[in-house]
Amino acid sequence: HRPICRLLSCPGTVAADLKREEQPSGNVGTGSEDSVLQKRFSEVQKERREEAQRTVLISCPNKISEKKFLKYLSQHGPINNHFFYESFGLHAVVEFRQKGSVASLQDAACTPSLGTEAAVPFRSRFFSVKLKNPSTSEKSSVQRSSQSPPSSKKLFELLCYAESIDDQLNTLLKASQVTEENAKLRQLTCSLIEDIAAAYFPYCTVRPFGSSVNSFGKLGCDLDMFLDLDETERLNAQKTSENFRMEFQVKNVPSERIATQKILSVIGECLDHFGPGCVGVQKILNARCPLVRFSHQASGFQCDLTTNNRIALKSSELLYIYGALDSRVRALVFSIRCWARAHSLTSSIPGAWITNFSLTMMVIFFLQRRSPPILPTLDSLKTLAAAEDKCVIEGHNCTFTSDLNRIKPSGNTETLELLLKEFFEYFGNFAFNKNSINIRQGREQNKPDSSPLHIQNPFETSLNVSKNVNQSQMQKFVDLARESAWILQQEDKDRPSPSSNQPWGLAALLLPSVSNSRSLAKKKGKKPASERIKNLLDSIKSNNTENSINTSGK
Ligand code: GTP
Ligand code: MG
Repeated sequence: HRPICRLLSCPGTVAADLKREEQPSGNVGTGSEDSVLQKRFSEVQKERREEAQRTVLISCPNKISEKKFLKYLSQHGPINNHFFYESFGLHAVVEFRQKGSVASLQDAACTPSLGTEAAVPFRSRFFSVKLKNPSTSEKSSVQRSSQSPPSSKKLFELLCYAESIDDQLNTLLKASQVTEENAKLRQLTCSLIEDIAAAYFPYCTVRPFGSSVNSFGKLGCDLDMFLDLDETERLNAQKTSENFRMEFQVKNVPSERIATQKILSVIGECLDHFGPGCVGVQKILNARCPLVRFSHQASGFQCDLTTNNRIALKSSELLYIYGALDSRVRALVFSIRCWARAHSLTSSIPGAWITNFSLTMMVIFFLQRRSPPILPTLDSLKTLAAAEDKCVIEGHNCTFTSDLNRIKPSGNTETLELLLKEFFEYFGNFAFNKNSINIRQGREQNKPDSSPLHIQNPFETSLNVSKNVNQSQMQKFVDLARESAWILQQEDKDRPSPSSNQPWGLAALLLPSVSNSRSLAKKKGKKPASERIKNLLDSIKSNNTENSINTSGK
C-alpha cells in the first residue's frame, strides 16, 4: 500500500480519485518513497476552478428522467459529468466539456414571469428546469448523492462494527470527509459568487480556503471564500522594457481595512439584492477580519466571504501539504475534531472555545514531536522551497515548498491506535501554563503572554491563534484528554468483545464524559454517570439516538 498512503490523503488529486477504491483500511504511512507524483495545491485549485467555470447548477422537479434531462442539455454540448443532490428540493450539478456550452444554455434560458411578484433579471449559471407537461413526468426518481455527514447514530454503528481502533479512525475519516462531489459543489458555489462580484471587479477571483480545500473538511462544514482582487499576475505579464506605465485613476481611502470594508459592503448588497439562492446576508465589517456571511440555499452551504486575507489561503495550502504527507494525519485530525465536538469543546458559535483550526495545529505539533517525527517542521519546509515558492505577504515570510515530492516521507510506523492514546497523554500533561505550541520550529517555546492556550500563528508569528480560549475551556480540554487516555488504557487491559454490544475504542471516547456528568449530576441532582451512560446505550440500541451525541456541524 506504499504509494497509496500519501495519495489518498488529498481528495481532489486525480491519482487520489483513481485509487480511492483501493484504500486498505487501517493503512499506516510507512515512510517508503512514492512512485507517483503528487499535485501541488495550486494545480489542484486551478483545475477545480476551470472545471467549475464549465459547470451549471439546476433546480429540478422531484420526478425527472435523468436520461431525458441529460439528452436535453447535451443539445448545448457534451457533458463531462453530473450528479443530483437534495437541498431545499432536487438539484443537479452539470459539468460541460466546453465553456461555450454554458453560454449556449444561458442564451436558451429565459427570465420567469412570476405573477404577483417581479423578478430581478440577473442571468447567472443557476437555473431551474421546468416540465412543460408535468402529467407526463417520470415515476422513477434519480439517485441523490449525500452532501451531509452521517448521523451520530450511523457513525456510532460504523465505529462499533470496525475491526480495530485503526480501522475506526479510518472509518470515521472515510464517512465524514468532504467527498469529490461535495468539493465540486463548493468550487461551483465560489464560481457563482465570483460571477456576481465580477459585475464590479471583472478581474476578481473567488477562491475557497479553510477546511473546504485544506483536506481537513468534513461534510457540512462552512464554505470560506476569499475575494481575490490582486492583479500581480496580470502585472507580471506586462512588458517591463517600456518607459511608460499606465495606472488607473482610483479613489483613495485612509486604510486597507477601510477599502476592504467598502468592497465587502457593496458585494454584500449585491448578493442580497441580485444573488439567486443567497439568503440571510449579514455584513460583519467591524470584525478583525471583515466578512460577509450568507447562506447559499441551493448548495446548502453557510458561506463566509472575506477579502484581503491572503495569509489564510497560504495556511490552507500548508495544512493541505501536512494532510497529504501521511495518511495518519487526516485520520487523527478528524477523530480529534469529532471527539472535541462530541464533548462540546468546539462549537459552531464563536466564543471562548478551542477552534477546529487550533485543534489541527495541536495534532500537527504532536506529530512533529514523535520520534522519528511523522511531520516536518514549517522551518524545514521553508528550506526545501524553490525560488518560485518565495512568498512574503504584508511583511510576513510565508515561504515553504509547494512541491510535496521534495519532502522525504517519515520513517515512523506507529499505529493510529498508539497515536490517539499518546495524543491524549501528551496534551493531558502538557505544560500549557508556561509553554507555547510552535509548528514552525516543531518544539515548545516559552509563552510570550499569559493566555491559557498559546499556539503561535505560523505566519504572523507575534499572534496567538487560540487567543480566544479561556482558562475554564482549557481545563475542560485537559480533563477530557486525561480521561480519554485513561479509558483507552483501561481498554487495553480489558477490551470489551465486539459481540458484547458495548461501545469501545473511539466510540467509547465519544460518550458523555464520566467526570463531567458526575459534576453535572452533583450540581443538578441528576442521575449518576454510570446510569446515564447505560440509558444512552439503551437508547442507541433502540434506534433513538439521532441527537444524543452531537457530532454534526463544525
Ligand atoms: P471548520 O471549522 O471546519 O470551518 O475549519 P476551518 O479550518 O475552515 O476554520 P474556519 O472556518 O474557522 O477558518 C477558516 C480558515 O481561516 C482556517 O482554515 C485558517 O486558515 C484561518 N483561520 C481561522 N482561524 C484563525 C486564527 O485564529 N488565526 C489565523 N491566523 N487563521 C485562522
Ligand atoms: Mg471553515
